[in-house]
Amino acid sequence: MWEQTATEEFQRLGITEATVTWQMVNYLVASDAVAFALAHLLFFVSTTPGCQDRLYEEFKSFKGQEINFENIRDTSVPYLTAVLNETLRLAPSPISIGDDLECLQDWTYEGYKIKRGTIVNVLPMAVNRNPAVYQNPNSFKPDRYLLENRTGIQKYAFATFWHGPWACPGNKYAQTIIKVFTIRLVLNYIINPPSTLTQLEYEPGPTTLRFKDIPIFQLVPR
Ligand code: HEM
Repeated sequence: MWEQTATEEFQRLGITEATVTWQMVNYLVASDAVAFALAHLLFFVSTTPGCQDRLYEEFKSFKGQEINFENIRDTSVPYLTAVLNETLRLAPSPISIGDDLECLQDWTYEGYKIKRGTIVNVLPMAVNRNPAVYQNPNSFKPDRYLLENRTGIQKYAFATFWHGPWACPGNKYAQTIIKVFTIRLVLNYIINPPSTLTQLEYEPGPTTLRFKDIPIFQLVPR
């Protein structure tokens, strides 16, 4: 791709060496983001009474079956989908989105004013815990994302992958990896929470949040 930046097509599209490098960085950061989400999912699942058993019940039909796009659709695994959404809501790995978004004109909305030239950052951790949208916003409650309950949640109240042209292109891929991993794990093991950590604490990493202490789970074969 690096060499292609010299081609007429890439020059017409404005794809430079900097574009290619930035996309590569994003792909590297992405594996951190997936690991961050997975660690949280294991933490929430192993510390929430009944959650693991409910997942196991949902996955039983996968025994001896191939896992494919059809059988891991949101409607095929509604409780896993709810657990995943709730995990991504409570634990968005990006600290902020659009570090250099500049407001191009004076803007007013519902009494909030932003002056032209102001740099605006979106903080997913704050957006995703908006008490006006989510009841008990700091609690892990996957049922809020069951199909029958999720109608009141607006799209922009969930900022983990962001939206529009700057949204994460790896969204569905990331969710697929996490779903397949969780199905295989829960089918074969009981996950015990970290013995020393009762809650997860963070420090800022270069682009994503990072754990102060890495959670270590104990897996017991079923
Ligand atoms: C749970 C996992 C992930 C989360 C939470 C996440 C979140 C995000 C967010 C919020 C952005 C926008 C950043 C901004 O504009 O400031 C982004 C961009 C991006 N993500 Fe992800 N991501 C994840 C996984 C992945 C995966 C698995 C891939 C690819 C294999 C990927 C590839 C990218 C790329 C290439 C961009 C840059 C897009 C652009 O600049 O147009 N991400 N991601």
